[in-house]
Amino acid sequence: GPDLIAAGEKVFKKCAACHQVGDGARNRSGPALNNILGHPAGAVDGFRYSSVFQDMQAAGLVWTEDELAAFLTAPKTYAAGTKMSFRGLSDEEDLTAVIAYLGSFAE
Ligand code: HEM
Repeated sequence: GPDLIAAGEKVFKKCAACHQVGDGARNRSGPALNNILGHPAGAVDGFRYSSVFQDMQAAGLVWTEDELAAFLTAPKTYAAGTKMSFRGLSDEEDLTAVIAYLGSFAE
């Protein structure tokens, strides 16, 4: 609901150094994250992914809520060699909220 999305917007401040989402979002040091929930990994136009992300894309990985939660909990464990330099979110409520926030930018 709206409260969860608002909470997720706050959590996204941890991501915003590298990612944009919403109207006019562009690739920065991380890919733009519009429409990411339910869509293939490693497939944002114009972004240069690490080889592990290219492999995930080739393998057909789709960002379901569960896959996003697993990645965002421990990025470097989930995707060894990823260039996403982020420790991960340990708080389960933060995780749920930020995934709901990203899901609010689905087309
Ligand atoms: C990739 C989310 C924090 C840099 C991704 C992807 C998602 C994501 C969903 C996969 C995109 C795709 O498959 O197209 C988040 C969230 C964050 C966060 C929700 C905060 C909780 C950060 C931070 C940085 C960063 C702080 C930079 C220091 C990147 C990079 C990639 C990536 C470079 C591409 C990974 C690769 O090619 O190995 N992020 N991210 N992210 N993110 Fe983040």
